[in-house]
Amino acid sequence: MNQLDKKSQAWSALFSEPMSDLVKRYTASVFFDKRLWEADITGSLAHAEMLAAQSIISEADHASIRHGMATIRSEIESGAFEWKLDLEDVHLNIEARLTQLVGDAGKRLHTGRSRNDQVATDVRLWLRGEMDAIQGLLAELQRSLLSVAEKHADVILPGFTHLQVAQPVSFGHHMLAYVEMFARDAQRMKDVRKRVNYLPLGSAALAGTTYPLDRERVAKTLGMVDERGQACVCQNSLDAVSDRDFAIEFTAAASLIMVHISRLSEELIVWMSQNFAFIKIADRFTTGSSIMPQKKNPDVPELARGKTGRVVGHLMGLITLMKGQPLAYNKDNQEDKEPLFDTVDTLKDTLRIFAEMMGGQLQADGSRAGGITVNAEAMERAALRGYATATDLADYLVKKGLPFRDAHEVVAHAVKFASERGMDLTDLPLDTFQSFHKSVDKDVYEVLSLRGSLNARNTLGGTASAQVRQQISRHQLRLSST
Ligand code: ARG
Repeated sequence: MNQLDKKSQAWSALFSEPMSDLVKRYTASVFFDKRLWEADITGSLAHAEMLAAQSIISEADHASIRHGMATIRSEIESGAFEWKLDLEDVHLNIEARLTQLVGDAGKRLHTGRSRNDQVATDVRLWLRGEMDAIQGLLAELQRSLLSVAEKHADVILPGFTHLQVAQPVSFGHHMLAYVEMFARDAQRMKDVRKRVNYLPLGSAALAGTTYPLDRERVAKTLGMVDERGQACVCQNSLDAVSDRDFAIEFTAAASLIMVHISRLSEELIVWMSQNFAFIKIADRFTTGSSIMPQKKNPDVPELARGKTGRVVGHLMGLITLMKGQPLAYNKDNQEDKEPLFDTVDTLKDTLRIFAEMMGGQLQADGSRAGGITVNAEAMERAALRGYATATDLADYLVKKGLPFRDAHEVVAHAVKFASERGMDLTDLPLDTFQSFHKSVDKDVYEVLSLRGSLNARNTLGGTASAQVRQQISRHQLRLSST
């Protein structure tokens, strides 16, 4: 039996009584931080390789550590590894097992290292991997939305401001708005990754170490390098072991993604209600009611909207966790893990489910099936109901020489007149229009049509079909190179 195992604590000699069971449970993190096991082994192997290269440990010890870690890896993967609460966390569990397997070589692994720089390194390594997976999922969601945009580029729906019908827009344009949001989210994640990918190891407990470590070598082994291949090493030991700003930044970026998902969810929920009936989502994303047989509830978008609160809550948790901490490491930081893990899990599941719900499941031939169903007639009808082309009539009058403010007034009278009679602007006869202003001619009807209005907005970023198609190609090109 090794020292750690026998005494069950890494620091036993100094203590006159054992920890109570309650305190053990309160302070232990192994039941959640065991999730970091792979990063922990990877970090330890890089550290051991460097210790040997610097002749701080022998090649024989290095070989033993490697073999021992290989055994531990397979034990954990097969579920045979016995995680012990008494050994507090993932780091002490793995180290104790290593020493049990390879003896003194295992005890030498911790030379020039502390759990403080070890855990900071593990969390960064783990998070980096998850962020790469999130990048892939963000790209997939964008591709999915692009496929919806492409399929429905010519479908017209009312664009809203204040949830009041404003001007007609293309449904493709509407989807592309979300593609823009998720593209920025991906950029933001990419930027955060640069700061996550820094090496704390070698800072030891807080002040650095007396051993001649080669930290840059460890950074390179772990892929902690910048675009030019330069090692990214934390430059201040106190900062390296204690700040979790990288985790906060990540959670902030994750919160923004969830906020974007939540906005989309809110729209899906509104669009699915019978009063709108703009879209349907596939049955597998909805649930029925146990009492009202006619119901199909948008549970997935509703839950995503709800889970946004949860992720934003984690951001608040992490940022508050940091605020009162003096330098350097404090045990408070152990509380960074659960919110971070839950943020990653929630975000990944949400991105995956939205990619499939919107564009459908990716088929072998690259097409998609089973995404949202769009009711183009309902959308057009809604746009026609709301005088969505009133601005176009005003612009028409401006082109005939009226100052915009006067044109606005004339149109307001025309809209009032039509709405009192339950008519659309296009239903008004020409002489009625001319009673509002003499310059109105029969070309006004083209201007008042939804499609005419849409295609008139042919400036960069506008909703005209030509613009929407250009944007779709631009995004497709961008996403094909990621
Ligand atoms: N489980 C600890 C954490 O997650 C590891 C570091 C412990 N360091 C210490 N000085 N007690 O933060």
